[in-house]
Amino acid sequence: MTISGKTKVCGVIGDPIEHTLSPIMQNAAFEALEIDYAFLAFKVKATEVENAIRGTRALNIHGLNVTMPHKNAAIKYLDEIDPTAKAVASVNTILNKDGKLFGFNTDGVGALNALENNGVKPKGKKILLIGAGGAAKAIAYTLSQEADELVILSRNTSPTTELANLLKQKFNKKISAVELSPKLMKEHLANANVLINATSVGMNPNANQTLVAPELLKPDLAVMDIVYNPLETKLAKDAKLAGAKVVSGVEMLIYQGAASFEIWTACKAPVEVMRKAALNHLVTV
Ligand SMILES: NC(=O)c1ccc[n+]([C@@H]2O[C@H](COP(=O)([O-])OP(=O)(O)OC[C@H]3O[C@@H](n4cnc5c(N)ncnc54)[C@H](OP(=O)(O)O)[C@@H]3O)[C@@H](O)[C@H]2O)c1
Repeated sequence: MTISGKTKVCGVIGDPIEHTLSPIMQNAAFEALEIDYAFLAFKVKATEVENAIRGTRALNIHGLNVTMPHKNAAIKYLDEIDPTAKAVASVNTILNKDGKLFGFNTDGVGALNALENNGVKPKGKKILLIGAGGAAKAIAYTLSQEADELVILSRNTSPTTELANLLKQKFNKKISAVELSPKLMKEHLANANVLINATSVGMNPNANQTLVAPELLKPDLAVMDIVYNPLETKLAKDAKLAGAKVVSGVEMLIYQGAASFEIWTACKAPVEVMRKAALNHLVTV
């Protein structure tokens, strides 16, 4: 990669940021397509989000990913927000078009593409989604347009009830927010087609944790755990043992990154290149 005065600069802001896979995936994709872009990681403290976004305009940075904990805070400094990001109050991608900053959320489409490209079609299905954070809400927004029924399970139902009501009205589907309890999990899993863990449970260093009792998993269920560190979570291992179809969190990571890449470059993302770069890196850390 040769950096010149014409190179378009993209990056990711977050804190901590050292663990991010975005520079690895995005630079591999830029190189594969031989386009003049470069991607860096910027550690930005919560108190500096406004300055960082002002700096994006001032330095003519072309695009940004926004990660934890700034996905919500960044919104108020942008000029236009896409409908998904607006509904879930969370942006993970910014495009700078002639000084005007556009905000997007690619987590939902990343999850949908990860499922579909791994043989799981959410259309017309019953989906159980665990979590109430930024990623869970974005996934809920996108999948509620596909699924027949969406049940969001979380330990705090006030944000999810509000979202479920909004989605019900907007998409006219069967959408509910219920408490994350063993009883309701069992009840809803009995006739569910797809289960998604969108909480941080199972993430290193707590890789032996799961919110789903292994005996509830079954062969006619597809399971996606969006946690990608470790590469195979306890939930994914249990699901595999139960004979369920398993989609890894790395797949969502790749497809949400691919969607950001396409927003910045207007080129089709080289998904295979991004997958190889992410997996190569993950097996070495
Ligand atoms: N694969 C990908 O592309 C991708 C993309 C984004 C995020 N992720 C991963 O997804 C996970 C969530 O990310 P996020 O951005 O949504 O984070 P977040 O906004 O902090 O949300 C985390 C969610 O997990 C819930 N949670 C944590 N511990 C729990 C427990 N013991 N029992 C029940 N719920 C629990 C939280 O519940 P409370 O609200 O009650 O605290 C919250 O709803 C992280 O591990 C992140 O790395 C993966």
